Amino acid sequence: MLELNGFLLKWPLLLCLSVGLLLHTIASQIPLGSKLSAFENKFWVSPNGDFAFGFFNRSEHPNQFRLGVRFNSKSIPIDQQTVVWVMGADLMVGNCSYFHLTEDGELVLYDSLKGVNVWTSKTSQFPVASAALYDNGNFVLLTEKKDVVWQSFDLPSDTLLPGQNFSAFHTLRAASQNYMSSYYSLFMNALGQLQLRWDSHFSYWTSRSPSGSNLTVFLTSDGALQIRDHKWEPIWLVFGEDHNDSVHYRYLRLDVDGNLRLYSWLETSQSWRPVWQAVENQCNVFATCGHHGICVYTESGSPACKCPFKLTNESIPRCFIPSPQQCNSSLNMLNYKHTLLYGMYQSDDLVSQISLHECKSLCLNDPLCTAATFANDGTARCFIKKTLYMSGYADPSLSSVSLVKMCSDPMAVNPNPVTSSPQLTPRKGSSKFSITCLIGAVSGTSLLFILVQLALVLFIYRRRSLMKKVALGYTGPNSNSLVVLSFSEIKDVTRNFEHPIGPTMFKGILPNNQLVAVKDMKTTIEERKYRVIVSKIGTIHHKNLVKLKGYCCELNHRLLIYEYTVNGSLDEYMEDSKLCKRLTWGKRVEICLSVSRAISYLHTGCREFISHGNLKCENVVLDENFEAKVSEFGLHRIASETSSSGASAEMDVEDFGKMVLTLISGCKGVGELSHWAYKEWAEGNALNVVDRRINGGVDSKRLDCVLRIAFWCLQMDERMRPSMREVVKVLEGTLSVDPPPLPFTSQRLPEEEELSEASSEPNSSRF
Ligand SMILES: *[C@@H]1O[C@H](CO)[C@@H](O)[C@H](O)[C@H]1NC(C)=O
Ligand SMILES: *[C@@H]1O[C@H](CO)[C@@H](O)[C@H](O)[C@H]1NC(C)=O
Ligand SMILES: *[C@@H]1O[C@H](CO)[C@@H](O)[C@H](O)[C@H]1NC(C)=O
Ligand SMILES: *[C@@H]1O[C@H](CO)[C@@H](O)[C@H](O)[C@H]1NC(C)=O
Ligand SMILES: *[C@@H]1O[C@H](CO)[C@@H](O)[C@H](O)[C@H]1NC(C)=O
Ligand SMILES: *[C@@H]1O[C@H](CO)[C@@H](O)[C@H](O)[C@H]1NC(C)=O
Ligand SMILES: *[C@@H]1O[C@H](CO)[C@@H](O)[C@H](O)[C@H]1NC(C)=O
Repeated sequence: MLELNGFLLKWPLLLCLSVGLLLHTIASQIPLGSKLSAFENKFWVSPNGDFAFGFFNRSEHPNQFRLGVRFNSKSIPIDQQTVVWVMGADLMVGNCSYFHLTEDGELVLYDSLKGVNVWTSKTSQFPVASAALYDNGNFVLLTEKKDVVWQSFDLPSDTLLPGQNFSAFHTLRAASQNYMSSYYSLFMNALGQLQLRWDSHFSYWTSRSPSGSNLTVFLTSDGALQIRDHKWEPIWLVFGEDHNDSVHYRYLRLDVDGNLRLYSWLETSQSWRPVWQAVENQCNVFATCGHHGICVYTESGSPACKCPFKLTNESIPRCFIPSPQQCNSSLNMLNYKHTLLYGMYQSDDLVSQISLHECKSLCLNDPLCTAATFANDGTARCFIKKTLYMSGYADPSLSSVSLVKMCSDPMAVNPNPVTSSPQLTPRKGSSKFSITCLIGAVSGTSLLFILVQLALVLFIYRRRSLMKKVALGYTGPNSNSLVVLSFSEIKDVTRNFEHPIGPTMFKGILPNNQLVAVKDMKTTIEERKYRVIVSKIGTIHHKNLVKLKGYCCELNHRLLIYEYTVNGSLDEYMEDSKLCKRLTWGKRVEICLSVSRAISYLHTGCREFISHGNLKCENVVLDENFEAKVSEFGLHRIASETSSSGASAEMDVEDFGKMVLTLISGCKGVGELSHWAYKEWAEGNALNVVDRRINGGVDSKRLDCVLRIAFWCLQMDERMRPSMREVVKVLEGTLSVDPPPLPFTSQRLPEEEELSEASSEPNSSRF
């Protein structure tokens, strides 16, 4: 029972001087009239001791208190006892404030600074008999019959606990910072999908779950975030890597950086570990950089805000475009590739269906325009910006181009090449591609092994009948969830493996009439490991990578479902004398560039380094626009039996070199081929290397450049091979390349082939 102190209510200031004692009261039943005060350091604790309700302060502001529920378990150190609920959406009160469960059944929070009640539960009309803090962290008001009339679970702040319901009536809002409430919130949209948004109008993440009404979001104690329908059946779920592990404490929180994360308590390291996050690339969270510039993923795997323009001289510097209005000489537009700029408070003007060139002149001729972003993902769009302060993000996978208005007057602008050279035309031969620089860069990229938690995202099909609707609802272009099919569903989809389109690859059709390619992995890798790898691959999106759409994982069956590409593999084109004609010189160089971009993205564009592991012409396919897409990336860890390569960037670079030579020459058998090609090139007969079936149009300068970079990729000494990023620059023509030396690597040594990381035999995993 709680100690009552009516005195406290009347004389808060006096009692403020009393010494705080650490008092914990088991709160299986908190009677009417009970009180807590800020300075008292007293808590109501749940019967199992896991949660505590009371006032808490932080060392930064020892005299400012919040009231709510936090973790209290003895196994969690005090500084890790995360607050999971705050009364009144992050209300801060003074150090003599108190909280009262009044005799007429109302919860009241009195703020000593303002001198008023700042929050009440408005429950006096209910027959409240007591309050309680449940074992799951829910603070409730109960009637005599123990019916819940009010619960903290209905008023979530930034956290969702296992067992808590979250529906269309609820919002999670990230915690306030510097007394300003956060712009980031989580809510359920009209379709019943979860949505993260910034400032109530800009949505930057959607669960893409099947739509429905009366849906509830629910965090299970085994670590799955589910959306359940009105029959309480899960229709969508995501979970972290430690799903089903015996983890004692978990919670879901909308963090101050705008990302939604699922946390698990890690007994061994005594810390909270994020096991899932909604937005994989933090730069894709809207306004991650605010006005501090452009968000880029650094090589160490964390987001950084870079200002390629000019920083203001303020206590919190902002990134701005030096006022072009006062330009005495001519204005021009600097070009930033793979960059998207956005207006935060003043949204951009949008002009659709115009070319990049028109977009540029539109901004140039508008005195108010400071910058423009041109995006072309089907429809060409031009976003005209009229703000001086810049926010945005850059990523190698982005196809948008940003144009920034600059004055050509000499000024202290230092266009920092965050993304690419800010010139309108690619620089040619402006930087030398020397061996020393290569070695430095390559050793830099090999440090890129960052292990970040990735989500396992999957879909469950409770009932067969749901499938059609579900699959349709879930195949949005940026959906990072995968369809999971049972083996019998796979049989239906592929008509019992009727149409083989490659070794262990079959054509199929999903219930929504979408064509897919189903690959049988012919392996029985452990289920958990398989799901982790597959879900990692499922989060990778790049226009030159074949998208993984789903998978099957049942007993002895491990299959992958890829998007279907109508034009088949590059290999087929190379081997067929008729089809081969479509592979003109220009097309082949373009394919090399597309493939290099895709591999570069795998190596440095994702949060975690991913090697392709098996790059060759068979694994490059051509889509309906005859654009190259790379397939079967990252599978070497699954398919130890079916793939022969290891898992390093250098090996992918070498495979790329081989692929380029094969594509240019039309010959296979790279060991001999590379020596012969090098000899021809060195003797000035580079044209002899080119596939005879190419009917002219060969640009010999370009050929020289392509061969040079291929020979660099094939260097025996791995350290001398360029990084994929450098290869892309060379092929784009923004980096020049020195003549490569002999010798090349010959065929890979047989014992090297067995070094596959996926193989679980201890004697073969030397990494
Ligand atoms: C919280 O407030 C109490 C009482 O004013 C004080 O003794 C304590 O040091 C404060 N805690 C922190 C973490 O600042
Ligand atoms: C309460 O906070 C005020 C400042 O807001 C401070 O001057 C006072 O010492 C604090 N009282 C206690 C008991 O900590
Ligand atoms: C969550 O919703 C379910 C189904 O409506 C209900 O049975 C359960 O009591 C709710 N839980 C809480 C904590 O409100
Ligand atoms: C959803 O809830 C509303 C009101 O709570 C109810 O009228 C409606 O029948 C429910 N719909 C379903 C499908 O349960
Ligand atoms: C988790 O456990 C349940 C039941 O034990 C099982 O049905 C489910 O497949 C497991 N999930 C994973 C991802 O292992
Ligand atoms: C920034 O501005 C302050 C005055 O506003 C000035 O004293 C300081 O020198 C400036 N710093 C720079 C680097 O310009
Ligand atoms: C532009 O010209 C005006 C007048 O000649 C001069 O005051 C101003 O400093 C010049 N601005 C720049 C950026 O050179």
